[in-house]
Amino acid sequence: MTAYTATETDATLPRELLEFLPCATPESWIEAALANPALLLIDHAQCEKKAASTAMSLMFRYVDRPELLTKMSQLAREELLHFEQVVAIMQERGVDYSHLQASRYAEGLRRHVARDEPQRLIDILIVGAFIEARSCERFARLIPRLDAQLAKFYRSLVRSEGRHFEDYIGLAQRYAGAPAVAERIACFAAHERALIEDTDTHFRFHSGVPAAV
Ligand SMILES: [Fe+2]
Ligand SMILES: [Fe+2]
Repeated sequence: MTAYTATETDATLPRELLEFLPCATPESWIEAALANPALLLIDHAQCEKKAASTAMSLMFRYVDRPELLTKMSQLAREELLHFEQVVAIMQERGVDYSHLQASRYAEGLRRHVARDEPQRLIDILIVGAFIEARSCERFARLIPRLDAQLAKFYRSLVRSEGRHFEDYIGLAQRYAGAPAVAERIACFAAHERALIEDTDTHFRFHSGVPAAV
């Protein structure tokens, strides 16, 4: 796997998280995010809501895994709190909450999840770790370019999503062991890299390189 190329804002991110991600967010995505502040907030709100919903569906499916139940319950509550915080900022800024088609990112990763248990659970946890780690990296990359209010909010999210990344990886390793998890991470990393580095027609929080307009 090709190593992540460091950027100057990476000092704020944990080393494990940077080693986990296969590539840095392209500068062209950062530029598109700054040019589309309303779209960024709306899709961010969607992502927080989806993160809570994914955690809750795991709680329904894996009732025999006590550590998962505790971690996912805490995670779902935090994601809903983030959702409320994003919606409050949108209201303050006069951003209308409209329906948005989801980006191809999460679906593009989930498509490679094994159909059968016990591998299915491990893969879902690894996909969760990628979504959290990429979100964390994007918040960190945006912080130096944002206004004070959003920068402060994103700093708190970097800490929280970084913890969620650790929770997902920790659960996967607990249930499958570190070597087996490392093998699956390498497989998902290749897909994740393609989703981040390939051209995307719609700008979203997890979209790839923006298509030229
Ligand atoms: Fe969140
Ligand atoms: Fe999260």
